[in-house]
Amino acid sequence: MNNIPRRLDAYRVPFVKPKEHYLRLKPEIDGAFIGCLKNGDLIHRQQLLDFEKHLSAYVGTKYAIGLASGYHALLFGLMAAKVGPGDEVITVAHTFAASVSAIVHTGAKPVLIDVQDDFNMDVTQLKTALSNRTKAIMPVHLNGRLCDMDQVMDFADKHRLAVIEDACQALGATHGGTMAGAFATGCFSFYPFKSLGGFGDGGALTTNDPDVARFATLMRYNGEDRATGDFFYHGHTALLDNVQAAVLDVKLRHFPAWLEHRREIAAIYSKGLAGIPGLSTPRIDGGKNRDACQNYVIRTVQRDSLRAHLTAAGIETLVSWPKPLWEHAGLSLGKPNLPKTKAICQEVLSLPLCAETTHEETQFVIDSIRSFTSQCPSP
Ligand SMILES: Cc1ncc(COP(=O)(O)O)c(C=O)c1O
Repeated sequence: MNNIPRRLDAYRVPFVKPKEHYLRLKPEIDGAFIGCLKNGDLIHRQQLLDFEKHLSAYVGTKYAIGLASGYHALLFGLMAAKVGPGDEVITVAHTFAASVSAIVHTGAKPVLIDVQDDFNMDVTQLKTALSNRTKAIMPVHLNGRLCDMDQVMDFADKHRLAVIEDACQALGATHGGTMAGAFATGCFSFYPFKSLGGFGDGGALTTNDPDVARFATLMRYNGEDRATGDFFYHGHTALLDNVQAAVLDVKLRHFPAWLEHRREIAAIYSKGLAGIPGLSTPRIDGGKNRDACQNYVIRTVQRDSLRAHLTAAGIETLVSWPKPLWEHAGLSLGKPNLPKTKAICQEVLSLPLCAETTHEETQFVIDSIRSFTSQCPSP
């Protein structure tokens, strides 16, 4: 069987445009990349330190530690909070598996709660999920929207719980002026299709706590303090590659402009799709939040037929995720009763959105959705 996915340029409106993205920045990226290769700057060199410095300044934390993936940031964040066997960590099931796997790999038990209409943690459920084994909360800022961090932090303070923010989809999102990843231990992913993406896997942990920063710095290098050569833990091989850091540092300079572009495209979608019966659009920039628009996710019970209609029109879409995590038997997550999460899996559809998505493409997507909904009004 041929499992190679359709080429991205086979779509009239691709979901993301990695080739165009690269070509746009080619001289800067090539300069950074070839600079590393020419100088042999491959592991833990100045480019990594520079990127960490710029990332921490952007997020507003004292430290940013470059790691091999967002998963490693989550794992080290939990381990730094001494989460381990016998402990429970409260999080959501409507997330990428890595959030929950990081908890499982510490030996702790994930306690899954439901989400609200913005796809983020329903903080009113924290109380019922709390037990005398609860050690931490992992809010997931999905699609570039921050959770209600005032409530999460209040609850955590009251019950002396650690907070590990899964900000893998939320670089640049703010709540009350504070950036994702600056409320507690922040975990970011630079997977290629994230709004700040490398040419492979990558991630970072952000924190104001020097002990957490040191722990992640040692853990990413097999537990070794590089200055002394002493090993303090059984660690991991999980350093952000120097060449990736060099490229990410170039991209970070452009990131604020891309963020504004994403917000602009999201606003065009919201205006163009307003008022369609049975189709809901995300609430962007509500209340104290300013979203980073990692994904623009619409919701309709006709999701599958709408998706087929858009694919036929040459529009690439994404479903995150078609079934709840607990229905993947291999993950052994039991059978939590989370009706909102379950319904979402059958109804959500992410529309094309990247730094290169044009106004014309956005309008074409809107027109195609409207042509579908006028032919197939909601039941
Ligand atoms: C919400 C969320 N959490 C965690 C991760 C894991 O990040 P990574 O793929 O860099 O390990 C991702 C990445 O897709 C994500 O979207």
